[in-house]
Amino acid sequence: MKKVQYNQFGDESVLDVVEQAVPAIKNDQLLIRVKAVSINPLDWKVYGGEMTLMSGSKFPKSLGIDFSGIVEQTGSAVTRFKAGDAVMGLLDVFKGGALAEYIAVSQTDIAPKPTNLSFEQAAALPLTGLSALQIIDQMASVGPNQDVLINGATGGVGVFAVQLAKKRGARVTAVVGTKGVAQAANGGADTVIDYTRQSVNHMHQLFDVVIDLSTKLSFTEAKSLMKPKAVFVSTLPSPVALVSSFVNNIFSGKKRKILIVKPTAEGLATLSKLAEADLQIVLNKTYPLSNVREAYREARRGNIVGKSVIVLD
Ligand SMILES: NC(=O)c1ccc[n+]([C@@H]2O[C@H](COP(=O)([O-])OP(=O)(O)OC[C@H]3O[C@@H](n4cnc5c(N)ncnc54)[C@H](OP(=O)(O)O)[C@@H]3O)[C@@H](O)[C@H]2O)c1
Repeated sequence: MKKVQYNQFGDESVLDVVEQAVPAIKNDQLLIRVKAVSINPLDWKVYGGEMTLMSGSKFPKSLGIDFSGIVEQTGSAVTRFKAGDAVMGLLDVFKGGALAEYIAVSQTDIAPKPTNLSFEQAAALPLTGLSALQIIDQMASVGPNQDVLINGATGGVGVFAVQLAKKRGARVTAVVGTKGVAQAANGGADTVIDYTRQSVNHMHQLFDVVIDLSTKLSFTEAKSLMKPKAVFVSTLPSPVALVSSFVNNIFSGKKRKILIVKPTAEGLATLSKLAEADLQIVLNKTYPLSNVREAYREARRGNIVGKSVIVLD
């Protein structure tokens, strides 16, 4: 089978499609024939060597976190799925490995694919959907009549964060690039700001929750946008940032939280239900496996709306 691997850290030129044996499954595992895998910024942070503390430096390394596919085979201890089921799921975010024709997973890594979604749409949901759910419901506890600022609102996480914050009854201000203005309004944002025309740092409004998905807004900058007991959520965990947010949260009313997404079967099941109700999934573009380098290069360049997805035949 074909699989994407790399043997050194670097840019997209390190990514190779190699031939490998189909993985053997253990009793509690399933073999999935992968249909689609979405691209996440975490991928290039890992293959770029920015996350060695979490990913380790041993090669070869694999790529691809969230996927959709069809159950090909089940181990004897698997009870919740059978061959032929359509599923979606995610692998360890720092190890990856979904970019392969077949993968071995455990049943807690997957959920049934929402019936109304294509395989491409379903692959775009797990990591970013879980991240948005955990930010909106657990970290920021967004509720009715709160003012929520989402900086980077039409990327993978932002598209879902806007919709979930609206579902919880908040007033949402979405900060996006010019291409994302229409999408942010479609997703339900009450106010849309094009960051190429207006800097968030010059806004006069104060918010209950400030969520930075762009990695460009620091806590120091965000403080001037926060009400006295507001929460700031960012998404780049580093030892220094985690320690300084811990110290800040003891002494300051303005809280700082950093996402470390926790993949859970329960979270995946919640996402499935939300998708079957009305959650919008926004796709940018699909690529064949043979164009993996181009796909990642374009995604990393940015200025796109929604998720890019690699399709396996
Ligand atoms: N810690 C964790 O557990 C975890 C989990 C998931 C994701 N993440 C991280 O969370 C971040 C967001 O993920 P994602 O999948 O949503 O990424 P994404 O799809 O790349 O979205 C980032 C968005 O930020 C926007 N942006 C760029 N510069 C901006 C600026 N100056 N002001 C406002 N917006 C700006 C981009 O818009 P343009 O392209 O139009 O510029 C893009 O839509 C990534 O860094 C990712 O690695 C962390």
